[in-house]
Amino acid sequence: MADRIISPKSNDDEGKFELSLRPKLLKEYIGQDKIKNNLAILLQAAKARGEAIDHVLLYGPPGLGKTTLANIIANEMNVAIKTTSGPAIERPGDLAAILTNLRAGDVLFIDEVHRLARPVEEVLYPAMEDFQLDIIIGKGPSARSIRLKMPRFTLIGATTRYAMMSAPLRDRFGAIYRLDFYDLPAMETIVHRSAGILNVAIDLGGVREIAARARGTPRVANRLLRRVRDFAQVRADGAITARVAQDALALLEVDALGLDEIDRKVLRTIIEKFDGGPVGLETIAASISEEADTIMDVYEPYLLQLGFLDRTSRGRVATRRAYEHLGEKEKFEREVRQMRMDMDHERT
Ligand code: ADE
Repeated sequence: MADRIISPKSNDDEGKFELSLRPKLLKEYIGQDKIKNNLAILLQAAKARGEAIDHVLLYGPPGLGKTTLANIIANEMNVAIKTTSGPAIERPGDLAAILTNLRAGDVLFIDEVHRLARPVEEVLYPAMEDFQLDIIIGKGPSARSIRLKMPRFTLIGATTRYAMMSAPLRDRFGAIYRLDFYDLPAMETIVHRSAGILNVAIDLGGVREIAARARGTPRVANRLLRRVRDFAQVRADGAITARVAQDALALLEVDALGLDEIDRKVLRTIIEKFDGGPVGLETIAASISEEADTIMDVYEPYLLQLGFLDRTSRGRVATRRAYEHLGEKEKFEREVRQMRMDMDHERT
């Protein structure tokens, strides 16, 4: 799944490449203006007081820059950052080991923080709140608990699933920010910046074409840029124009709005097999052999953002826009007419 061209999840071999494109300072970070303004104040105030900043929770769809922001925060505060993830911390002892190695002011970044095990969370609460570590020594009847004082640190949590976090954990973050898909001007600036860093020749038309198809997601933009660069090198003279970008992306089956095969399959399934819905997510997932979690994290947020899908209490519904995008306008109108007739029928 991570190999799909429009996947906002990071591939393993993409790490180094992404790292080189990542902004290191807040002022280099493009878009997410509300978060940037709030963070700037948080950072400046903490620096002036000589303290660690409050615990920060970043949530939103993958690929929008949660990890980048965490690294920027540590960099701006001039402290070390230790990065881990919810599922990587299996036992309370694993977390205790990480916490006892932090120095004053350090940042601990926990990605997928909604996947922390409950017993691990229990160790985190006193650490976040009172900078205390409760450790159990020994086993059975002779086990005893000791309390260690630890230096003030900053926890930065990131999640794509805010709703799946436990309330006590959520409540312990002093600052909570939601990242949104980037607007088109921000995406264009990001593509332009990345092309500069990668030393790729690209004109304004090329920038626009890639930016428009990148689903408001910088990680996708950077990946498309890389693929289009290859295409330009092999099939053109190396420079990316609108035409080159269009041809390259057509070959990759990424359409004008950035939808790929799976997005279209999701929409077609709802429209053709379930008459536009409502239909449950699990049912959609089963009929296209994808995991429900993947659809929910990766595909659905962008389809919702485009207004192609509606989430209702009875399931997902395809909207008129979705029908139109797939060239099914007449089908939509037929179904609306039918629905009206059925309703009239019920009334009489
Ligand atoms: N690369 C990835 N995300 C970025 C952002 N928000 N600003 C600048 N460059 C980026």
